[in-house]
Amino acid sequence: MARLAGKVALITGGARGQGAAEARRFAAEGAIVYVTDILDGQPVAAEVDGTFVEHDVTDAEQWESVVSAIRSDHGSIDVLVNNAGIFQLGGVLASDRELWDRTIAINQTGVFLGMTAVAPVMVENGAGSIINVSSIAGLRGVAVAHAYAASKWAVRGMTRSAAQELAPHGVRVNSIHPGIIDTPMLQTFDDAGLRSSVTERIPLGYEATAEQVADMVLFLASDESSYCSGGEFVIDGAMTA
Ligand SMILES: NC(=O)c1ccc[n+]([C@@H]2O[C@H](COP(=O)([O-])OP(=O)(O)OC[C@H]3O[C@@H](n4cnc5c(N)ncnc54)[C@H](O)[C@@H]3O)[C@@H](O)[C@H]2O)c1
Repeated sequence: MARLAGKVALITGGARGQGAAEARRFAAEGAIVYVTDILDGQPVAAEVDGTFVEHDVTDAEQWESVVSAIRSDHGSIDVLVNNAGIFQLGGVLASDRELWDRTIAINQTGVFLGMTAVAPVMVENGAGSIINVSSIAGLRGVAVAHAYAASKWAVRGMTRSAAQELAPHGVRVNSIHPGIIDTPMLQTFDDAGLRSSVTERIPLGYEATAEQVADMVLFLASDESSYCSGGEFVIDGAMTA
């Protein structure tokens, strides 16, 4: 039996990187997949026989229309992966208000809007799994990315709070904390000439693939993780050990 047979999954930021890998992994395990992004996610959706919706996670109205479209097609949403995110370099001494607002809007408010739009549907169904993508930047300090770290720490707190609130309704909420994952997001490190010095600090000795993260997210999306809620799932090659 496929591990996500018949489950309806919504993955934000699924046009590339980890979100796209999760779309492929979920579909291979029988899920009905919705991919959303501000980039074109049509190619990924076509590959997985799923649906692409252009969607900015900072926009509450767009969340409402994505959710109502899925409800009218399938009646439920079983899995939400709040994956969309941005990473910009900037410590306290090199940040401005614009960088801060943009990072918080996408990485933190986007997750808030996603949970507020989808959790009521899951509560109505008495089941659901929400996976919020934080980072190792949500587990420790990051000198070079102040707003990013703030947003990812927030996601961790929001996840724990929602897990407690939604548990009586059968809805599970977990955060994942990837380390250094080989996706287009790492271009920022390349541009700053920082990638090799970051990679050298990974005890396992290499950057993870998006597929390795997708394997963990699949577990959290599936009923195999039925007793996991409020958890922080680290996938970082021992970087924060
Ligand atoms: N790559 C890493 O090393 C790493 C490490 C830890 C956590 N993460 C987190 O993993 C998640 C996925 O990142 P990735 O590595 O696949 O990077 P990525 O840049 O390849 O993918 C991010 C996706 O989010 C989308 N996105 C950005 N802003 C959006 C918005 N306003 N609305 C909708 N979609 C939007 C982008 O278009 C892109 O497709 C992010 O939340 C990121 O912060 C990444």
